[in-house]
Amino acid sequence: MAGSTERPDRNLAIEIVRVTEAAAMSAARWQGRGDKEAGDQAAVDAMRQVLDTVVMEGTIIIGEGEKDEAPMLFNGERVGTGQPPHVDLAVDPVDGTRLLAEGRPGAIAVLAAAPAGALFDPGPCVYMEKLVVGGQVADVVDLDRPLPDNLRAVARALDRDVSDITVMMLDRDRHERAKADVRGVGARLQLIPDGDVAGAILAAWEERPQVDVLYGIGGTPEGVTSACAVKALGGQILGRLWARGDAEASEARDAGYDLERILTVDDLVTSEDSFFACTGITNSQLLRGVLFDGIGAVTHSLVMRSKSGTVRTIEARHRLKKLREYAAVPY
Ligand code: FBP
Repeated sequence: MAGSTERPDRNLAIEIVRVTEAAAMSAARWQGRGDKEAGDQAAVDAMRQVLDTVVMEGTIIIGEGEKDEAPMLFNGERVGTGQPPHVDLAVDPVDGTRLLAEGRPGAIAVLAAAPAGALFDPGPCVYMEKLVVGGQVADVVDLDRPLPDNLRAVARALDRDVSDITVMMLDRDRHERAKADVRGVGARLQLIPDGDVAGAILAAWEERPQVDVLYGIGGTPEGVTSACAVKALGGQILGRLWARGDAEASEARDAGYDLERILTVDDLVTSEDSFFACTGITNSQLLRGVLFDGIGAVTHSLVMRSKSGTVRTIEARHRLKKLREYAAVPY
């Protein structure tokens, strides 16, 4: 056929989804068992094992754990087979460790990858303010404007009444003012106990119009990881580093961070070729959780690549008896 001579290139997301599936299946055994650390550890161990089978020279640059001393795939850890491509990884083996431990909806396993050097390094900054929207309204939001103005602007751009706009927010005391703002302007508010990566995906994903805006202060690692998904979905994430007091603010400033700067999706992920995969652990609005049955397990995942903008939904049937014969992960 005449036309393009370009060879099909590699979509790493299709390979790293095996890593999030393994993490989700391992973590899902801990659903509702009241042990946050054990669920996270199971996911971390499975992730490590499967990551090492992926052909890449990977470096974890965003692990999780500093915030609550979770067991981590630590920053700087080398993973993969050691052959090119050289990629940086952001891992969140369980986003929603408490949800998993308490047997509540919303826990997912997450992994994002981008060419080396392309992911924002949050340094000592644990939290950031985030505002996530879909591509259609990406240009009408501004973190320097009051939240009610942003919500009115989103409604106008979507040609809807503000009462038809749904805002998702982590249910935290630090958000009392923002909650009042959403209620005051007449928008719908959906409070979530944890898990703002899934929230960011829901807000950016215009083909699944369940949430229009994610707003609030959440984890910075989760913000960078979310940005890989938001980029693939064509949305926008605006972020601003948020310090928990003067000591943290001066530590961040001493390390060269500007706490006033508004970061966009392109600042958080500078490459146009980033990859994102996540798998449901417990059921949620975004994805079904792991189902165990007599054959093994069924997982549901999302796989995205920013270069193509392709979003895949993958339902996988895992035959655990077969896997146990050779897999390093103790399924
Ligand atoms: P963990 O699974 O690491 O506990 O993170 C869950 C989470 O809700 C994130 O989705 C969110 O970004 C962050 O915690 C918010 O932090 P905090 O719970 O300290 O308010």
